[in-house]
Amino acid sequence: MSPQAPLFELLEHTVGFAFHSINPLLSEWVACWNGSDPLLDIGCGNCINALKGIEAGAKVLATELDSNALKQLEQDYPDENNLSFAYLELPDKIPCEGESVSGLLCSEVFHFMDHEEIQASIHEFHRVLVKGGKVILTCASEDIAMLGPVGLKEIRRSQREAFPQLLRAYHDPLELIEQACRLKPSDHFAWELIQQHHSIYPKNYFNFFHPGQLAEAFRDKGFSITLAETGPAPYYPLWEHGDHDQVRVIAVKE
Ligand SMILES: C[S@@+](CC[C@H](N)C(=O)[O-])C[C@H]1O[C@@H](n2cnc3c(N)ncnc32)[C@H](O)[C@@H]1O
Repeated sequence: MSPQAPLFELLEHTVGFAFHSINPLLSEWVACWNGSDPLLDIGCGNCINALKGIEAGAKVLATELDSNALKQLEQDYPDENNLSFAYLELPDKIPCEGESVSGLLCSEVFHFMDHEEIQASIHEFHRVLVKGGKVILTCASEDIAMLGPVGLKEIRRSQREAFPQLLRAYHDPLELIEQACRLKPSDHFAWELIQQHHSIYPKNYFNFFHPGQLAEAFRDKGFSITLAETGPAPYYPLWEHGDHDQVRVIAVKE
C-alpha cells in the first residue's frame, strides 16, 4: 500500500469504517484453524481479514449485519470455495452449531455494543467455539490518545471503580468527540472526520474498553485469557494516535 493510500473507508451500508489494514492479531486467528472446523470472522467489513484466512488455507465463514452488504460480498468473491457468508447482528444467535468453530475473530465490533449485548455475545462465542478454540478480539480503548484531553480515561476509571463489571457504552459519543475537537479549533482534518463519524453510530452509543475489565467478562463466561493489553491502531479514523488506542484480547474456551 502506498503511503498516500487511505487507511480506512466509510462503509455505506453498515456500521462504522472498513479498514485497509489487517488485524494486528491476524496470525493468532489463522493459527486456530484445525483443518476441519471453520474460522469465523464477525463483522467482516471489506473482508480484508477473512481473505487472509483463506489465503492461509483455512475455511472461513464471514458475517455482516446488512443483507445488501452480504449480497455485495457474495458478488465480489464468487470463486472463493473456502469463503462463505452469513447474516449476523450481535448479540443475536450466531448461525453456527455448538462447538463448530475453531477460531473467532471479532475485529472492531465490540465498541458498537452496550453491556447486555456484550455479555450475550460472549455467551454465544462460548457456545459456538470448539474446546480450546479462541476468540481474537480488538476494540477501542478507554486510553485513546485523541480523547485524553477531555478526560475519558479518568471518567471510565471512576465508573469502573464504582461498577467493576459494568461494560457500559458511552452514550452520545459525538458530544465527547466534538468536545475534544473544540480543543483543536484550527484542525480542519478533525472537523472533517467528525462529519464522517456522524454516520457511524446508529444507536448513538459507543464503547471504550479497559483490557483487564474486558478479560474478566470473558473469564466469567468460561474462558481463560492469554492476552489482554492495549496497543497502537494507526488505521483508526482519528486525528491523533497513541500507543494505547486499541484493546486486544485473546480468550480461550476452557
Ligand atoms: C469498524 S468495522 C470493522 C470491519 C472489520 N472487522 C475490520 O476489522 O476491518 C465494524 C464492522 O462491524 C459490523 N458490526 C457493527 N455492529 C455489529 C453488530 N452488532 N453485530 C455484527 N456486526 C456488527 C459493521 O457492519 C462493520 O462491518
